[in-house]
Amino acid sequence: MSSDTITVSRAEGGLRGTITVPGDKSISHRVAILGALSRGSMQVRNYLCSEDCLNTLRAMQQLGATVTPGDCPQNFTLTGTGMRMHAPAHDIDCGNSGTGMRLMAGMLAAQPFSSRMFGDPSLSSRPMKRIIEPLSQMGARITACGEKPGCAPLQIDGTALHAICYELPMASAQVKSAVLLAGLFTEGTTSVHQPAITRDHTERLFEHFGIPCTLSADGLTISINGPADITARDITVPGDISSAAFWLVAASIVPGSEVTLRHVGLNPTRGAVISVLRRMGADISITNCYNEGEPYGDITVRSAEQLTGTVIRKAEIPNLIDEIPVLAVAAAFAEGTTSIRNAAELRVKESDRISTTVHNLRAMGAEVVEFEDGFAVSGGQPLHGAELDSYHDHRIAMSFLMAGLNADGCTTLHNCANINTSYPGFAEHLHMLTH
Ligand code: S3P
Repeated sequence: MSSDTITVSRAEGGLRGTITVPGDKSISHRVAILGALSRGSMQVRNYLCSEDCLNTLRAMQQLGATVTPGDCPQNFTLTGTGMRMHAPAHDIDCGNSGTGMRLMAGMLAAQPFSSRMFGDPSLSSRPMKRIIEPLSQMGARITACGEKPGCAPLQIDGTALHAICYELPMASAQVKSAVLLAGLFTEGTTSVHQPAITRDHTERLFEHFGIPCTLSADGLTISINGPADITARDITVPGDISSAAFWLVAASIVPGSEVTLRHVGLNPTRGAVISVLRRMGADISITNCYNEGEPYGDITVRSAEQLTGTVIRKAEIPNLIDEIPVLAVAAAFAEGTTSIRNAAELRVKESDRISTTVHNLRAMGAEVVEFEDGFAVSGGQPLHGAELDSYHDHRIAMSFLMAGLNADGCTTLHNCANINTSYPGFAEHLHMLTH
C-alpha cells in the first residue's frame, strides 16, 4: 500500500497520550512574511515546517531574506530586508497554499519589480479575484494567467500603490491581510472593514513588530498608516488549533479516550471549535494558559458521555471555517441534528468541502442533507468503514481518518500525501495516540 494511502480501524481502548501539535499555519506564513520585511534578525521558534509554510519561507529567501538554521528545522534565525526586497530569480511556487499566494500578492504588488506566483492544480483553481479587486483599487497591476478565469498563476508588475478604505465582500482573513500588507508600503491610511470578525493574526503580529494598527470599537475595521518600518523581534509560534481539532473530535467520539495537547494557540478568533464542541457535550479542559501576543495553553479532552447536535451560528463560521469537516464528523456521532449554514466559502477551499464532506459522510452511512451554503447531519447512528478519497485535501483526509477511529471495520483514505501541507508528523501522532 502506498504511503499516500492510510487505513485505520476502531481505536479499541480509546486514544491516549500527550502530544504537541505542530506550529500554527496561519501564524507561520505571517511570521515569514513580516520577518522578511523587517529590519534586523529574529529567532523564530516552532515554525510550521509543512510544505505550505516552507514554500512561503523559500519565497522570502528568493526575495532577499536570509534563513540561518537553528537546533531543529522549526527553529531558525530570520534576517529581514528592511522593506527592501529584490526581484526573485525564478517564479514563486506557492504549492497548495491559498494563504501564501494571497498574502504575498499584497506585498508583491507594491514592490519596484515584477514577479510571478504559481501553485498546484488545487490552488490554480481557487479564486484570486477577491484579492485582485481591492489591490487593483490601490493601483496594483496583477494579471491572473490561469486556464480558469481569475485564477493563478499570477503575474504581478509591482508599482507604487495608494491607500484605500476597503469593504470586504466576504469574511476573509486572507483578503483582509493582503490589503493590509499592501498598506505597509503605501503612503497614508489603509483601512479594511470586514463583515464579521476573522482571524486576527496579522493585526497581532503588526503589534508584535511595532507597526501601528488601529481597530474600531466593534473590531470590524482595521487601519494602518504606511509606509511602515518593521523591527525584527523574536517569536515563538503556538501550536495549531486547527491541527489540534482532529484529536479534540477523535477523543470526544472514541470511548475510553484521554488526550492532552500541549501549547495550542487559543486565539478567540480561532477558538469556536472548542465552544461548539463543548456545547455538543465534549469534555474539554484548558490549563497552563499564557499570552505572548497570541494566547496559548494545554488542552485535555476526554471521551464525551454523549454528544448532541447543535446549530452553528453565522457569526461562528469564520472562527471555525477550517474545522467544519471534522466538526461534521463529530456531528455524525451526536444525537440529533447539527446544522451548518452560511458557509459557502467552504466550496472554494482546497476542495469543495461541502461536497467532499457530504460525500464521505454518506459513504460511511451517515444521513446528511446538502445545501448550497452548508449541510445538516442527522447523527447518532453507527458509521461503517469505507474506502474514501481525500480529494487531495489535507483536512478532508484527517477528518475522515478520525471518523474511521470509531467506525465498524476498516476505513481507507486515498491521496493523503497532502496532509504534509499542514500537519507533518500526523501519522506518527495517530500511531502514538492509538497504541
Ligand atoms: C486563513 C484564512 C482562512 C482559512 C485558511 C487560512 C489565513 O481563509 O480558511 O485556511 O491564514 O488567513 P479565508 O480568509 O479565505 O477565509
